[in-house]
Amino acid sequence: MKIIITGGCGFIGSSLCLFLKKKIRNITILSIDNLSKSYSKFNEKILKKNRINNERIDLGKFNSLKNINFKADFIIDCSAEPAVEISRKKVIKVLEGNFLSTFNVLEKAEKDHSKIIFISSSRVYPIKTSYEKFKIFKKEQKHSPYTETSDFKGPKTIYGFTKYSSEKLIEEYNYSKNIKYIINRCGLVSGPGQFGKVEQGLVSLWMWRHMNKKKLIYIGFQGSGEQIRDVLFVQDLCELIIKQVRNFSIFQNNLYCIGGGIKNAINLKNLTKICSKITQNKVNISKQKTTSIYDIPYYVSSLKKIQKTCNWKPKIDLNKGLKQIYDWMKKNNNKIKKFF
Ligand SMILES: NC(=O)c1ccc[n+]([C@@H]2O[C@H](COP(=O)([O-])OP(=O)(O)OC[C@H]3O[C@@H](n4cnc5c(N)ncnc54)[C@H](O)[C@@H]3O)[C@@H](O)[C@H]2O)c1
Repeated sequence: MKIIITGGCGFIGSSLCLFLKKKIRNITILSIDNLSKSYSKFNEKILKKNRINNERIDLGKFNSLKNINFKADFIIDCSAEPAVEISRKKVIKVLEGNFLSTFNVLEKAEKDHSKIIFISSSRVYPIKTSYEKFKIFKKEQKHSPYTETSDFKGPKTIYGFTKYSSEKLIEEYNYSKNIKYIINRCGLVSGPGQFGKVEQGLVSLWMWRHMNKKKLIYIGFQGSGEQIRDVLFVQDLCELIIKQVRNFSIFQNNLYCIGGGIKNAINLKNLTKICSKITQNKVNISKQKTTSIYDIPYYVSSLKKIQKTCNWKPKIDLNKGLKQIYDWMKKNNNKIKKFF
């Protein structure tokens, strides 16, 4: 089997490269990544050690995959600029890197008859809905998870817009050119391999700062630390994707909400408690009442559709997942420090 993983040197892409290489016999994986993140080079070295090559290509350039002579059964698209705040500042770069890249992937898939698995994002939903759901949660202490058909109308960040547009372009190529696809619309994904940098999301940041006794801030929502996310640990995502590779037809031409679900939903205050317990450290946490217009207070995924389709569900709970991150950070402490 031959697989292209775009963004193969990123957090999710590299985890997936190593996971699939270990699990599937006679697999050849080609990573395509322009090494735009400082940590991508670190991951590239690990891939190399595991006999996975990376082609350094900017997927945001028109027709950038045209001359790649590697006919893949699957293209798993894990490449994007995922930081919402960067998308606000570098609009063109993000439109090219996140959307034009999807066009390039689709053209390559059409040429080689490859199937596509696309990693989309929960940020396709409008910002306002998150505030509404947060309000409901605070009033009733009951979750109202996002489903595949939740409302899309309204601004969602430039990042969210590119992911939404990519989803739609994939559907167009399916309709007009019969490209077969699966879209996994993921909420917050975390796990070993994240360096605790701000743009990589709350979970690894919280753990890294606790481990190193560095200050934190509850930003926004009155500085209450009550904002909620459901956390999916990357190993669970890899387990789902290998199922999709092995049984593609069960999932094909469908979109799924993928996340930690209600069981792995947590607010920042409780994340602090777990990090504190694992690291045995207490850090100073200040409060900042306001936040960016791109920030959201609530996201939890509904797993109903994916669970109707297959028997996948997240196996790694918050305590276990956070302990795995801690162990990985401790083991790689000196290497990670170089990235700050
Ligand atoms: N991590 C999450 O919580 C999360 C949640 C939902 C969706 N996603 C999606 O999952 C995918 C992977 O995210 P991640 O967290 O691993 O991010 P990441 O930044 O760690 O990895 C992305 C990789 O893509 C590469 N890349 C970016 N632009 C490129 C370009 N123009 N050409 C070639 N390579 C390029 C980067 O160098 C990097 O190695 C993204 O599509 C993101 O939108 C991530």
